Amino acid sequence: MAVVESLLQFLSTGALLGALLLLLVLYLLYSGSKSQKEVKEPPGPKPLPLVGNLLTLDLTRPFDSFFELSKTYGNIFQVFLGPKKTVVLVGYKTVKEALVNHAEEFGERDITPSFRIMNDEHGIIFSNGENWKEMRRFALSNLRDLGMGKRGSEEKIIEEIQYLKGEFDKFEGKAFDTTQPVNYAVSNIISSIVYGSRFEYTDPEFTQMVDRANENVHVGGSTSVMLYNIFPWLGPIIKNKRIIVNNIVQSRQQMTKLINGLLETLNPHDRRGFVDSFLIRKQTEEKSGKKDSYFHQDNLMESVKDLFIAGTDTTGTTLRWGLMLMAKYPHIQDQVQEEIDRVIGERQPVVDDRRNLPYTDAVIHETQRLANIVPLSLPHVTSCDVTFNGYFIKKGTTVIPLLTSVLKDPSEWEKPNSFYPEHFLDEKGQFIKRDAFMPFSAGRRMCLGESLARMELFLFFTSLLQSYRFTTAPGASKDDLDLKGVVGLTLNPFPHKLCAIRRS
Ligand code: HEM
Repeated sequence: MAVVESLLQFLSTGALLGALLLLLVLYLLYSGSKSQKEVKEPPGPKPLPLVGNLLTLDLTRPFDSFFELSKTYGNIFQVFLGPKKTVVLVGYKTVKEALVNHAEEFGERDITPSFRIMNDEHGIIFSNGENWKEMRRFALSNLRDLGMGKRGSEEKIIEEIQYLKGEFDKFEGKAFDTTQPVNYAVSNIISSIVYGSRFEYTDPEFTQMVDRANENVHVGGSTSVMLYNIFPWLGPIIKNKRIIVNNIVQSRQQMTKLINGLLETLNPHDRRGFVDSFLIRKQTEEKSGKKDSYFHQDNLMESVKDLFIAGTDTTGTTLRWGLMLMAKYPHIQDQVQEEIDRVIGERQPVVDDRRNLPYTDAVIHETQRLANIVPLSLPHVTSCDVTFNGYFIKKGTTVIPLLTSVLKDPSEWEKPNSFYPEHFLDEKGQFIKRDAFMPFSAGRRMCLGESLARMELFLFFTSLLQSYRFTTAPGASKDDLDLKGVVGLTLNPFPHKLCAIRRS
């Protein structure tokens, strides 16, 4: 009996010891793997519960805060926007390495709650996976066929410039806000590619559509919408969210009317624009009974909305920065006008003139660099677990490729914070490309409208500078033309007025 008892005692002591040993091994394994992962995660400031690092960020200019944090934590760091871990990529080399050399891993879009309201994960900008691939491929090939970035759009832009000059002339050299005329002119270029025709600046349906799109871009980057994206339960009390929803509802109604009009007069042998191409493809797939086609009404509406918004605000904002910078730096405006007068004279500038206008080309590039209109780019998300430059980033982590840190990377630009067209000129005054010039981002989500935007900027800017001298409003000082800008999804010039005084 005593033998049995001591055997049981031995067994239970052994079992106890075994269990303890097992627990110890498990603990060591767990803590080992945890510390390994912690070591490999990007560094960053210590987050507080619930709010993360929000209290230490300037939410009115988050891109400045991120740039500042990189001085402490390096080119890859993480911050917590509330409970949401976000990895920020800083500087030309890091951003390019991620978006180009790890294109698949960093190539998905992070669809925040406010983006979901805007697009419901259809269309191009705010979709992912096969849907995105099909829509992007279709848009690119059709916009090219419709002349995007080629002769076809050159003619449209030159025609539109005459209308825009008509608007500027109405002010007879008196100070005015350039926002609406410039936005309407630029919007007409993408509108005529998408819908097949331009609109009058007096057409309220058109002007409301443009004004609403711009309002959404503006409030979409506001602090309150940023907070809504982090804490969606705040939605009901956020006014800017209501503005976005209201604008979307009204834009959808107007777009439906326009698209239905095109559908009624559709001729498969005469495509007027992108909408026609989409409708024809939709009908073909419906007729062939194709299941799960991506060419449905939601993707049509959202793709059209994406092209309209992305094609209007960005280019219009850049052009307005350009005109403002000319008024702020008259000696640079002198050199641009001297070059245009010498090389082109009074005839209409055309795209082929670009190669003979190196200084003007450099000024346009420098405007895009300094204006830095999409400072945070659009948010990306990792499509899988990725180890990048020695750091482990989990699948589904939000990634911000900080374009402001590329366009103002101190190791790439001689004078990152000044307006210095010489960044794009060699010692003989010839135009030079710069690798870190990345306002359109890079990789698989790179801007789809780059060629169109570049053509528009060149033709609008050169034609306007040929015809007008831009100055500050009487009584205003050049110092009033602030370079910091107003933050939205894009960075706009502060509200200001300019005089456009006829030269020819
Ligand atoms: C100066 C003008 C422009 C600038 C600075 C600009 C910049 C950008 C940037 C930074 C992105 C985000 C890229 C990324 O996520 O990595 C983007 C995306 C996009 N842009 Fe532009 N853009 C301009 C003009 C245009 C125009 C004229 C169009 C219309 C044809 C356009 C259509 C798009 C579309 C559809 C996307 C989404 C691409 C995707 O998610 O696959 N953009 N743009």
